[in-house]
Amino acid sequence: MIPFNILGKVFSTFGHFIYPKSVREALCAFLEPLEKDAKVLDVGAGTGLLCEFAHECRDDLVYVALDPYEGMLKYAKDFVETTIGTAEDLPFEKSSFDVLMMGEALHHFKDVDLALSEVVRVLKPEGKLFIYDFDKSTFRGKSICKGEKLLGEPGNFFDPKVLKEKLQGYGFQVETQNHAWRYTLCATLHKS
Ligand SMILES: C[S@@+](CC[C@H](N)C(=O)[O-])C[C@H]1O[C@@H](n2cnc3c(N)ncnc32)[C@H](O)[C@@H]1O
Repeated sequence: MIPFNILGKVFSTFGHFIYPKSVREALCAFLEPLEKDAKVLDVGAGTGLLCEFAHECRDDLVYVALDPYEGMLKYAKDFVETTIGTAEDLPFEKSSFDVLMMGEALHHFKDVDLALSEVVRVLKPEGKLFIYDFDKSTFRGKSICKGEKLLGEPGNFFDPKVLKEKLQGYGFQVETQNHAWRYTLCATLHKS
């Protein structure tokens, strides 16, 4: 297992290197139509890096970061509210958030389907989901997947086409964008 609880300093210092400019631009384009004070939950937030990038283009939204480890969350910026928890058991009421986002986090979740059912529960109807992760259909993505499994991580990496189909099964309308060996996915939830 990767010892995230003692890696907060490393992620807060070097984490931004895993976010290419095109991914940050995709995030800002995704956030652009949101209304002021929309509530955004960063799941598997680590040190809250995705919230920081989001805040650079939308400083009028409300940011909440969730992660299992205080050792990561303690590095989050002051504008971010932090909560300890896991994606598989989100400690929030149903329909609490306008937006959920996950940056390089989905592949660490032990039970992706349980996590996605929690995503659907806490998102408002017509809520939005943003995912950034490594593309398993590429050589580099596949290699990272193998490496993480050797470290004892779940290694739940996806080919974005496969993840798109999975999310459609949960009621999302989905668009994906390739960024070389990485991808972003933007989705809207249609639930009654
Ligand atoms: C590679 S880090 C990415 C952190 C952050 N999103 C970023 O982009 O810098 C993966 C994060 O997922 C978290 N994580 C691992 N298992 C999790 C789970 N079951 N639910 C939520 N977060 C989890 C880890 O603690 C870690 O902070």
